[in-house]
Amino acid sequence: MTGKLVVNLHKLARFTNIAIPLLTGLFFLAGLRISFYFHFITVAFIFLTALNAFYRFGQKGHSLLRNFGILGQGRYILESIGPELRQYLFLNDTEERPFNRNERSEVYRKAQDINSASSFGSQKNFDSTEVKVRHALFPIRKKDLKPSNVTFGEERGCPNPYTLKRPFIISAMSFGALGERAVRTFARGAKQAGILMNTGEGGYPKYHLEEGCDLIFQMGTAKFGVRDDEGRLDDQKLRDLVANDSIKMVEIKFSQGAKPGKGGLLPKEKITDEISALRGVRKGEDVVSPPSHAECVDIESAVSFISHVQEVSQLPVGIKLCMGISSEFRGLVSEMKRQNAFPDWITIDGSEGGSGAAPKSFMDRVGIPLFPGLKRANNILTELGVRNRLKIVASGKLVGPGRQMIALCLGADVICSARGYMLAAGCIQAMQCGSNTCPIGITTHDPDLQRGLDIDLKATRIKNYVDNLEHDIEELLCSTGCRSISELSFDHLYVPKDSTLHAYVTKPN
Ligand SMILES: Cc1cc2nc3c(=O)[nH]c(=O)nc-3n(C[C@H](O)[C@H](O)[C@H](O)COP(=O)(O)O)c2cc1C
Repeated sequence: MTGKLVVNLHKLARFTNIAIPLLTGLFFLAGLRISFYFHFITVAFIFLTALNAFYRFGQKGHSLLRNFGILGQGRYILESIGPELRQYLFLNDTEERPFNRNERSEVYRKAQDINSASSFGSQKNFDSTEVKVRHALFPIRKKDLKPSNVTFGEERGCPNPYTLKRPFIISAMSFGALGERAVRTFARGAKQAGILMNTGEGGYPKYHLEEGCDLIFQMGTAKFGVRDDEGRLDDQKLRDLVANDSIKMVEIKFSQGAKPGKGGLLPKEKITDEISALRGVRKGEDVVSPPSHAECVDIESAVSFISHVQEVSQLPVGIKLCMGISSEFRGLVSEMKRQNAFPDWITIDGSEGGSGAAPKSFMDRVGIPLFPGLKRANNILTELGVRNRLKIVASGKLVGPGRQMIALCLGADVICSARGYMLAAGCIQAMQCGSNTCPIGITTHDPDLQRGLDIDLKATRIKNYVDNLEHDIEELLCSTGCRSISELSFDHLYVPKDSTLHAYVTKPN
């Protein structure tokens, strides 16, 4: 007994499911035995019972109603008067974090394939720090655009290069951070949209493979799924894994924006029997991965390890990192040059990136944000004359076409996002990814909550989201006068003199 009064809405919803029909029966009996007037209340309760049953079993469009029945309707009622409440009392549409209502609504509208045109004027600041895209005097037509294919592995003559036809990737999220139905939703959506999905560092990607989309297998520092008894890479396990046709590329995770300098973390609340078996970890304890790979003790061994994974897998192999000390990144790239060994891509993840679970101090205070980090990485690769040896994938709050376009101008070839796709699948930013209580059923293993996710419907929303993002990126591209993403450059951005981006263009560190 803690003495605290805590309202658990999920339990309350379960209670409501039983209580409403029970009360209906009681009022009916009261109508028969005590007074006829009780029948009026009975009729109201019959209506509530039917409505509750319809929300939970008769519709698929609203995950919240499928999980919470009529209680869930409370949220929609509050939401419908939300704009007024916020306008007079609470936050405005541009204030919430990590994603404000405007940003979330843009994703929801794209996912539901609703016209996202705005009226009257922008709510953005037009002050001295806002970066903007420069348009051409004579924009080009869509029919003049070149296809935005990106081929990974072509630079080093990889035996199995992979061509991504649309420049979008669903970023790493493990089975563990995600529940089974969320994995299936994203994988089915990726397949429909014809894009890649990253498995995250959760080990053998059982459900991803069952859905049959094209995959990047991510190898985190704990190497779940491919490690030996000492936690080092077991070459044979990797060979067996990549023999699966769906696995097209491998990503070695060095760090992640939300917690650079720390290994992955899966809270004990989310360790089911299945996850404990898949990862080879104990139930009832948080799973904390080491901060770095056992094989990588310095830049020389890190570059050798990348080559080794390329050799063993025979697939394109990339690395994922958040920019920290620029001179270290320069040293890493110089070593790649010295060994003539390059990863096929580098994912630059901004410190504003999300996580299933990360220490708050790391989330808030460690790592360089995406735009300056990406700019710095692109500059170093260019200065050392090796930008053409690999691709750059960018992630970090790239959920709408505006920020995505800026990232493309700063050097990214491909846009990667985790939370964009979570929002497209109905995420309401409840901020409960680590506690196994996600009300939408995305980052939970609770079967009762997962049932809210209708896989087919939400997979279609993932596809709609990609279609509409691509549409907007193409329109923005046309406005710059460029025929392809590869023609975009820093010169296509208007960067006011007070912008922090300038610091990363001129300063060496
Ligand atoms: C629920 C969740 C789980 C994640 N799991 C992983 C992971 O297994 N490996 C990893 O490298 N990044 C992981 N990430 C980080 C994302 O892959 C991505 O780098 C980051 O969220 C930035 O993209 P976003 O801002 O579009 O979400 C996770 C993020 C979320 C929200």
